[in-house]
Amino acid sequence: MENSGEAHFPQIIQGGMGIAVSSWQLAREVSQTGELGVVSGTAIDSVIARRLQDGDTSGEIQRALLHFPHQEIAQEIIDRYFIQSGRKENEPYFDVPKLTLNPKQHAINLLVASAFVEVWLAKEGHDGLIGINLLEKIQMAIPAQLFGAMLAGVDYVLIGAGIPAQIPHILNELSIGNKVSMKVDVEDSTDKHRLDLNPKVLIQELYPLKRPIFLAIVSSHALVSYLNKDEVTKPDGYVIEYNLAGGHNAPPRKKNVDENGEPIYGDLDTPNLEKIKSSGSPFWLAGSFGTPEKLREALSMGAQGIQVGSIFALASESGFTFEIRSSVLNLTADENLKISTDATASPTGFPFKVIGMPQTLSEEELYASRTRICDLGYLRTPFKRDNGGIGYRCPAEPMNTYEFKKGDPNQSLGAKCLCNALMADIGLGQLRPDGRIELPLITIGSDLDGPRRLKEMYPGGWSAKNAVDFLRS
Ligand SMILES: Cc1cc2nc3c(=O)[nH]c(=O)nc-3n(C[C@H](O)[C@H](O)[C@H](O)COP(=O)(O)O)c2cc1C
Repeated sequence: MENSGEAHFPQIIQGGMGIAVSSWQLAREVSQTGELGVVSGTAIDSVIARRLQDGDTSGEIQRALLHFPHQEIAQEIIDRYFIQSGRKENEPYFDVPKLTLNPKQHAINLLVASAFVEVWLAKEGHDGLIGINLLEKIQMAIPAQLFGAMLAGVDYVLIGAGIPAQIPHILNELSIGNKVSMKVDVEDSTDKHRLDLNPKVLIQELYPLKRPIFLAIVSSHALVSYLNKDEVTKPDGYVIEYNLAGGHNAPPRKKNVDENGEPIYGDLDTPNLEKIKSSGSPFWLAGSFGTPEKLREALSMGAQGIQVGSIFALASESGFTFEIRSSVLNLTADENLKISTDATASPTGFPFKVIGMPQTLSEEELYASRTRICDLGYLRTPFKRDNGGIGYRCPAEPMNTYEFKKGDPNQSLGAKCLCNALMADIGLGQLRPDGRIELPLITIGSDLDGPRRLKEMYPGGWSAKNAVDFLRS
């Protein structure tokens, strides 16, 4: 097996930010500064399919697909989704297959090829390091996405939002072309459920593939010792993410919430860095570490460096639309701006950071007036039906449907469709029959020190390179 080794670790990891906020353009720019650029794999099949339907204006997806090692699959994807002149303004996007335990071959092909495309584009034309970020919660996409990313030579894999104990083994097996079998959690079931992927069914040759370095994103030292206990589950390193980070956060140990419904974090939720250091695994610190002072502090605490999201999400190469980036930047000027930690918004059940912003689902009336629909379904959870079959449900789907599927109604209250909202954040929101386009919902870290300082330095906006220079200053 070719081993990527850890020639030198980067000091700065540009965090993976879904959906496609950490775009290939952003990751590529960061990577070329000598740090680690990370693309997001979350819902990347929908992202690629929608970009193709919008005409793939600069032709980059088709360029990347030309390098995919199975040209019939590449052609099948172009035939199915590419619209030369772009989708008509009054036409909705044509959706990709939803994730299931028994995916059709096209669904697998699309997942593999989409992850390939995003990583390939991020790596094109330079030899810097590129990683892919996935959410452990979206288990049914993981094997295919890892395989696609590895076909493009991905250097790092970073996975949080769950306990990524199965990943090291899956990476080892995929790199030598062996079949992998991912255990998938099925609610209300005691049976074991698995999703298999045989890489050789798609690509017969090319093995061994480079085995990427795997970093688990966790928030507690307990999880570090749990994963390190066994070579089979031990990652190559950790990103230790504190609860001020943008995106999803680990739930507090004590499940308390304050009067605004925000989780209350306490001492128990602070990772013990001494214990993590003594584990011997390399680690990076994330969540309110996006300033030069915090980078130095992290290094002094024995970390390899930091993982930073928010200042990169606001950089000009990120996937956020120009309007969203500008609005967030304007809002950050307000010293009283508060980023809330919404305990119920995310269907995953994890707290999710939300910025209160006009024309987004953070506004109660807009949220209430949205017609619930679950047509992307990445956050659906499999469950065992009374008749023994497998169903899929999401707390953000129409409430009566969720209850019919025996979902807990309390979980459904306040749940927001992150799939559709996050697609809207990057300008790929779905058009509905009543003419409305899905509304965005913006996540950003609670610590705005970095964005505010960068805004002062670059009032007209900053690039990924400016952000890296700032962190290194
Ligand atoms: C817009 C945005 C989206 C994010 N999405 C993800 C994600 O999909 N997966 C993930 O592991 N972390 C995600 N994060 C967390 C970042 O990768 C990073 O760990 C975090 O932003 C670091 O803290 P900071 O916001 O204080 O810089 C996201 C952060 C932001 C700001």
